[in-house]
Amino acid sequence: MPHVTFVDPDGKQWTVEVPEGASLLDAARQVEAPVHTLCNGIGACVQCRVRVRSGMDNLSAPEALEKDRIGNIFHITGERMGCQAKVHGDVEIETLPVRLPKRSKRERGSGRR
Ligand code: FES
Repeated sequence: MPHVTFVDPDGKQWTVEVPEGASLLDAARQVEAPVHTLCNGIGACVQCRVRVRSGMDNLSAPEALEKDRIGNIFHITGERMGCQAKVHGDVEIETLPVRLPKRSKRERGSGRR
């Protein structure tokens, strides 16, 4: 079975063995690594973004939903959505901080009164 190692920005590590085809989010949940979700893994929130340090070829190829959400430059950024990327071999994953959605101009207000 493949091994997934998560590393957070402080260098803390978690390693877990998962069945082939498990998602990175499933793997993170097994060891309580900080891969976040607001949508419970349905591909809507993008809070599960992670950066692949090694083993990109051991993950499933991004499908249309993932490309739509994070763009088609994953091969440059190394970023994948944890709920969409399925594990087929050993990988090392860097967890990323939560990225809150930008507020719209209307939500920020115009600054004029
Ligand atoms: S968990 Fe919400 S998009 Fe992946």
